Amino acid sequence: MTNSKFAATMVEILKVYDAMGFEFLPIPGRDEVFSSKIEPESVTGPIDSGTEVMTLQAIRQELGNCKRCKLHKTRKNMVFGEGSSNARLMFIGEGPGADEDEQGRPFVGRAGKLLTSLINKMGLRREDVYIANIVKCRPPGNRDPEQDEVKACIGFLKSQIASITPEVIVALGTVATKAILSTDKPITRLRGEFRDYKGIKLMPTYHPSYLLRNPSAKTIVWTDALKVLKALGLEAPEPAENVGT
Ligand code: URA
Repeated sequence: MTNSKFAATMVEILKVYDAMGFEFLPIPGRDEVFSSKIEPESVTGPIDSGTEVMTLQAIRQELGNCKRCKLHKTRKNMVFGEGSSNARLMFIGEGPGADEDEQGRPFVGRAGKLLTSLINKMGLRREDVYIANIVKCRPPGNRDPEQDEVKACIGFLKSQIASITPEVIVALGTVATKAILSTDKPITRLRGEFRDYKGIKLMPTYHPSYLLRNPSAKTIVWTDALKVLKALGLEAPEPAENVGT
């Protein structure tokens, strides 16, 4: 092989690794490359067996400067998730919007303020729970995340759940519910009843963005929130009103 052919082949190989999200070549002995504990699509076993349980910090490290899907090209910041690593309650949204992309934090825009208001009405603070999304980078124009993007990312969320082991998960909206439960049923059919996610109670409910468009549905979300509080053995701090402003 001539030098120029060799160089061209190397460039092609490097492009493939770059597209796969590698930041360096997988040279035998480089543990970082060969010890990947998260295979995004394959974290399907029961939460307490199969995959190794990692700390949130280790999961963040594994995510690195992720380029596993096309969303990396348009993101400003990755939104890993935030809250207590011992949270008993976890909220899962679909993906960052413009404000979240700007700040690198989940649910900080208008829908986020409504979610924070719900959490507070439940007698909790954001720091008490854990908040994350199905995908960690903003889909351009706030479109729904596409199947390949969900597949590339959801393993990290599942590892976060395995690390936190919450007692209850609230799935916010259709996209989050369908992705986490691997179902095609719409949120209207699923909300309001606990579902099982690997032994964890999962409550699907409406997404806060839906509540911004349909404020009357806040009372429905509040009834779902009361069931969540009951499952956690917590008192509802206020008489059943609704989610907030
Ligand atoms: N909507 C989501 O689903 N997630 C966020 O973090 C913000 C808005």
